[in-house]
Amino acid sequence: MNRFRRCCLVVVCLGSLSTFGLTQNAPAAAPPSQAATPHGPRANPTNIKALPKDITGDEIHDVMHKYEADLGVECEYCHARNPETKRNDFPSDANPVKDKARLMIKMTDEINARYLAQLPDHKADQTVTCATCHRGTAHPEAFVPKPSGHDHPPAAATPPQSAH
Ligand code: HEC
Ligand code: HEC
Repeated sequence: MNRFRRCCLVVVCLGSLSTFGLTQNAPAAAPPSQAATPHGPRANPTNIKALPKDITGDEIHDVMHKYEADLGVECEYCHARNPETKRNDFPSDANPVKDKARLMIKMTDEINARYLAQLPDHKADQTVTCATCHRGTAHPEAFVPKPSGHDHPPAAATPPQSAH
């Protein structure tokens, strides 16, 4: 009985090993370009006004996915839909939010290149990104520091205790 079970286990293990081997080998047999992007390289953008002009179709896709996550929105928050095809028309500027985002891209670049870069101890990996302010929302809330624990509370703004 024991020997029989062990024998079965070995057969099952060998079986799953070969299945694993097969599935592992399948993508490696495909050409490298297909493995990276199933539909081949994406077309390069045609309507770039804020990002680097030489940005490729694949690069812009990565940037756009970051915007989605940083703002907690979908593509159509900034992009217009083609009324006929009902699909997103990415080069179109019909959605006014797209131009707002362009302003934001220029502002963020300028903060990094013109101001943060001037700090004498500036580290290249410590940059301002969309997420620095947006933190997963399109309309970042103003940060209101807690009044307690501060050495000099804004006395003029808060009424004295006796007034209650
Ligand atoms: C926060 C706003 C925002 C979001 C969200 C966003 N985009 Fe964009 N997208 C832009 C802006 C702005 C441009 C133009 C950049 C420029 O002019 O330099 C652009 C350009 C593009 C382009 C280039 C079009 C061309 O040919 O010029 C593509 C493709 C694109 N976006 C795809 C996407 C996809 C796919 C998503 C969702 C995964 C997405 N975008 C989400 C703002 C956004
Ligand atoms: C320094 C802080 C800061 C940074 C950095 C920043 N934003 Fe903003 N962004 C804001 C504030 C504040 C608003 C105004 C929000 C509101 O209207 O409620 C805003 C508004 C926007 C809007 C308009 C939202 C709407 O519906 O009207 C978009 C789109 C946007 N930002 C995209 C971006 C993108 C993309 C980046 C990165 C390239 C970025 N922002 C970087 C602070 C920032």
